Amino acid sequence: MSFYIAGTGSALPKKSVTNDDLSHIVDTSDEWIRTRTGIRERRVLTDETLTELTTKAGKSALADAGVKPEEIDLVLCATMRGDTITPSQACLTAAELGIQAVSFDVNAACSAMLYCFGIADAFMQSGKAETVLLLTCEAMSKQLDWSDRSTCVLFGDGAAAVVLRKGKGLLSHTMTCVPNGKMIRTPSHDGDSIFSTSEKQKVALHMDGQETYKFAVTTMVGQMEKALLDAGLTADQIDYVLPHQANLRIIDAAKKRFKIPDEKVLTNIASFGNMSSTSIPVLLDENAKQGKFKKGDKLLLVAFGAGMTAAATVIEWQK
Ligand code: ACO
Repeated sequence: MSFYIAGTGSALPKKSVTNDDLSHIVDTSDEWIRTRTGIRERRVLTDETLTELTTKAGKSALADAGVKPEEIDLVLCATMRGDTITPSQACLTAAELGIQAVSFDVNAACSAMLYCFGIADAFMQSGKAETVLLLTCEAMSKQLDWSDRSTCVLFGDGAAAVVLRKGKGLLSHTMTCVPNGKMIRTPSHDGDSIFSTSEKQKVALHMDGQETYKFAVTTMVGQMEKALLDAGLTADQIDYVLPHQANLRIIDAAKKRFKIPDEKVLTNIASFGNMSSTSIPVLLDENAKQGKFKKGDKLLLVAFGAGMTAAATVIEWQK
């Protein structure tokens, strides 16, 4: 298929909030959060803008790939909300990086970065792009109700980037959506229309945790099966799985289903919580920079999230 990963980058807010810190804000404990989710701490935005983070991550990925801004044909940014409603976060970042190319955002919650892989594949296959910059950023802290212990302990903020170049590293890609407007939902900011007669809604994420948990396990397994089948591989031929970091128990369920040994399943949820679309690319960047992946390694990336969306990608590491 159409591309290989040429470079990665990431950027995180400086402020870390531990489970103990949260126990002073809501009625929770380090023990509850750790045992139910695997999270120990998360990063949250204070004075940083998302554009500062996506620009830093984008520069790092371009440098890693040895690609100049003028070589980029397409910029996509996976995010639920950028710094501004308009322009898009992709446009804001392209301006900072000196890129002039088609640029737009993709909102598919936690699956958005893998949706971007699918869009990049379509652009490459149709001859419309040869070098693509994928960005992702999430300001989860700005869509949480910090008095709701059932959600505020779960998420973190961050940004990351991946440079894709035309090549043969993509072994399979699958995406799906089971539309559901209620399971996970954050209302938009209503604005100040003088004509609006509807009641203003608070911008706060609501999630049916248990229903999401069931969706996550079933869909993650289904997407992994399809991605493996399409790639003509079995689970034991995969070198590393990079799953969405929503809950260690969800990851463990998928690990058991495919009998994948612990050392092949990469996680960073303990340090960063659930950064939505940004979790997998930060995990990819951390492990790539540590030299974990060898040329020819097969990576299985799998995500699920609000929408309800899900996607999986099998990639051969070619750096
Ligand atoms: N600290 C202490 N107690 C808590 C907390 C907390 N932070 N949060 C909830 N509780 C309590 C509840 O009030 C409840 O108490 P009760 O029994 O007295 O009523 C008890 O703990 C159990 O609550 P559950 O909701 O049943 O806990 P569960 O074991 O299901 O864990 C969790 C909750 C972690 C949210 C889990 O359901 C989950 O991970 N779901 C999936 C989330 C997910 O995958 N999201 C991904 C998508 S996110 C996106 O797309 C933006």
